[in-house]
Amino acid sequence: MNLDFSQIVPYIPFILKGIWVTLKFVFLAILFGFVLGTIFALFKISHIKTLKWIGDIYTSIFRGTPLIVQLMLIYFAIPQLTGYDIQAFPSAILAFGLNSAAYISEIIRAGIQAVDKGQTEAAQALGVPYYLMMKDLILPQAMKNILPALMNEFVSLTKESALVSTIGYLDLMRRAQVVGAQTYHNFEPLLFVAAIYWVLVFILTLLGRQVERKMKYSD
Ligand code: ARG
Repeated sequence: MNLDFSQIVPYIPFILKGIWVTLKFVFLAILFGFVLGTIFALFKISHIKTLKWIGDIYTSIFRGTPLIVQLMLIYFAIPQLTGYDIQAFPSAILAFGLNSAAYISEIIRAGIQAVDKGQTEAAQALGVPYYLMMKDLILPQAMKNILPALMNEFVSLTKESALVSTIGYLDLMRRAQVVGAQTYHNFEPLLFVAAIYWVLVFILTLLGRQVERKMKYSD
């Protein structure tokens, strides 16, 4: 065995920079995915058949194809199609955001539909307008189902983010590969970034638990 971590010591700052690079696009992708996912969730619970249909097809496509294919389609195919040379960073946000929107729309739809029907019926019987019923009655209750699942989605995206290394985006994973190529030591940098991913996910999980506890408390 020839594990030698001293080889990668000079590269540690380079690798650590990848934490910010990774978190930055994951955060933006989640934000984008959340906005788009909310819109599609509204489509799905709407009574207008066409909107429902659009929401379902969208989810089916983006959950039914591998994320890495979506990422490559955006990064390599958009230039061919439009002549616009899209950079790795916007490609990553776009691919992960579009993909996440499909998952988030399901999380929100399920969360809203899990709220007891009696709540809607009672509000309608009392003549509460739809908008107020959603804002003050249904959504606060739906949040209990939605927030923990959203935290899970955040964790998933953080781990899946390593896929962007395939389009040359200098995230944590790509940095480990670069260091591996330069030092001929692959195990050490990979182990190092694995530990970083684990810590990131651990922190996110703790945050998720905190949110869940707050939700329970408000019961
Ligand atoms: N590995 C799966 C894929 O390639 C995961 C997709 C991303 N997951 C997510 N929760 N957004 O399709």
